[in-house]
Amino acid sequence: MASLAHETVLFEEACAGLLPCAGGLYLDCTLGRGGHTRGILDRSAPDGRVVALDRDPVALDAVREAFGDDAGRLELHRLPFSRAAEALAGRLVDGVVADLGVSSPQLDDPARGMSFRHDGPLDMRMGDDVDETAWELVRRLRDDELADVIYQYGEERASRPIARSIKRAVDAGAMETTAQLAEAVHRVLGRPRFGKPDPATRTFQALRIAVNDELGELERLLAALPSMVRVGGRVAVISFHSLEDRLVKHAFRGDAAWHPVTKKPVTPSDEECARNPRSRSAKLRVAERCDVEEETP
Ligand SMILES: C[S@@+](CC[C@H](N)C(=O)[O-])C[C@H]1O[C@@H](n2cnc3c(N)ncnc32)[C@H](O)[C@@H]1O
Repeated sequence: MASLAHETVLFEEACAGLLPCAGGLYLDCTLGRGGHTRGILDRSAPDGRVVALDRDPVALDAVREAFGDDAGRLELHRLPFSRAAEALAGRLVDGVVADLGVSSPQLDDPARGMSFRHDGPLDMRMGDDVDETAWELVRRLRDDELADVIYQYGEERASRPIARSIKRAVDAGAMETTAQLAEAVHRVLGRPRFGKPDPATRTFQALRIAVNDELGELERLLAALPSMVRVGGRVAVISFHSLEDRLVKHAFRGDAAWHPVTKKPVTPSDEECARNPRSRSAKLRVAERCDVEEETP
């Protein structure tokens, strides 16, 4: 059986924000190992339903194996969430959850090539709808383009020397694996020190975000949400990166379709951060769909 080891972040807070109720229809944009989906199904028993998406077939298989179709209450779709409207096929939902980024099983599987903690091929794709691997991306981009990606998505100050170090390794035929990518970063920033985050963390994050077009996906989802949520319905988005949180904040504040329920983002408790260090950078924002009056001509 596929691993179910993903600890759901801000579980109670996101479920409470959505106010699931019996008879409701909900959209989980980021199924992962089904943590939020399970919470919504339990809170909307006996007949609430969830349409859940993931671009990762491994996640869908794991949840199908664990939950089945939950007595007809769970519908699974292999789709990037920018295409959520295709799964809904015109249905309006009472709530949407999006728990962005990657799951622990994705990070922990060396074959996915997402982490410097395990040596594996330089892949980083969340699903096979993503065309270009990280290996192909670092070959295609010029030094300055690669530096921009590392600076923007990784907030890495040493982006230029790191990009040059990566491109030198590419030219030498030594940029095939995650260990070689980490090595190229360590050549610039030094080796990891005990008890400190690995200096390669920011570069790995940046390339993963670029490979999966994570910000483009989020922008397209936010633009589509008003047409998928019924008036009074709720949206809960958990982000892990300041650029993501900024997009969510502006979408909820700058659009008459939304009333922000959370004035400030909700963050994990100290207890959750201690139990699950991957939750540390999480921010949850919740908004409610407003009744936007038709403009009179
Ligand atoms: C943080 S995990 C979600 C964990 C889930 N809430 C749980 O409790 O098990 C993010 C999941 O969303 C998926 N994902 C990320 N971006 C996606 C996108 N643009 N479209 C569809 N799925 C995406 C990933 O493949 C991953 O399985």
